Amino acid sequence: MKSLVQVVLLCTLCGGGYGVPENVPYTPEIVPIRVPGRITQTTATLELPLCVFDNVETICRNCKVWLVVANDTGVSGFDSIKNGIVNPSQHTYQNAFMGTDGFYFTVKTRRDTYGCPTTTASTTQIFALRVGSEVPCRSPNCNAPLPTGGMFRMKYILFNPDIQTANVVGETRWTSQIKLLNARDPNDIVSSSGRRTGGMVVITTILAILLFLLLALFAAMLAMFCCKKSSKSDFPESITTIGSLRKYNTHNLQHKRDLVTPKGKI
Ligand SMILES: *[C@@H]1O[C@H](CO)[C@@H](O)[C@H](O)[C@H]1NC(C)=O
Repeated sequence: MKSLVQVVLLCTLCGGGYGVPENVPYTPEIVPIRVPGRITQTTATLELPLCVFDNVETICRNCKVWLVVANDTGVSGFDSIKNGIVNPSQHTYQNAFMGTDGFYFTVKTRRDTYGCPTTTASTTQIFALRVGSEVPCRSPNCNAPLPTGGMFRMKYILFNPDIQTANVVGETRWTSQIKLLNARDPNDIVSSSGRRTGGMVVITTILAILLFLLLALFAAMLAMFCCKKSSKSDFPESITTIGSLRKYNTHNLQHKRDLVTPKGKI
C-alpha cells in the first residue's frame, strides 16, 4: 500500500511531462536610481540574476536562463504553461503584444554567464540587462522595444533544452509592476521643461547671436559681390545684351517691315 502511494506520487511529479519548476527566493529588481535610463518609454534595466540559479539542477550544464516578460494577463498565461513542455521559440514578442499571449521569452543566456561575481568586482560594478534594447529585432525571441507606457512584470527562468518532460526547471519570482514612461508622462514633461529654463535659454541666445553674425557676414559679402560685379562687368555685359537685342530686333523688324511695307504700299 505504501509503495503504491509512492509510485502514484512519483507519477504525478515526473510522469506525463509535468513537473513544477523549482522556486528560487529571488525577485528581480530594476537597477538603482542613480543608473541613467533605468526606465524609459520602451526599455527597463534589470539587475542580472547572478548566483541565483547556482543550486538548481546543478547537473544540467546545458541549461539556459531566459527572461520572461509579461503583462498582467500574460503572468497567468505563463503560469498556466510552465509545468508542461515549453518551447521558448513559440513564445515570441510578436505573439505577446501583437498576438494574444501577453508574455514572451527573450535574452537566452548560458547559465554559467550568471555565475557568482568575483569578490573584487561585486561591490562597485552593476551588472545589468536592458530589456527592450534590441533594434532591429533579428530573431523570434529578440529583445525588442516594449510598448510605450506599458505595465510589465518580469522573471528569470532556468530551462533544460535536453529533456522532453517539464523543461522549465527553475524560476525566480515576478518583479513588481514596472511602468514604462509614457510619451505624455507628466513627470517627464516637468523634468524636461525644468532643464529647458536653464540650458535652453543660453543655447537659444548663442544661436540667435550666431545667426545674426552669419546674416551680417552674408549681407557684407553680398554687398561686396554686387559692387565688384557692377564696376567690372559694364562693358562685356552690355555688348552681349546689345548683340542679342540687335539680332532680335532685326528679326522682328524684318517681320514688321514685311507687314508694314504692304500696308504702306496700299
Ligand atoms: C496583455 O497582452 C495581451 C496580448 O496583446 C492582451 O490581449 C491583453 O489585454 C493584455 N493585458 C493587459 C492587462 O494589458
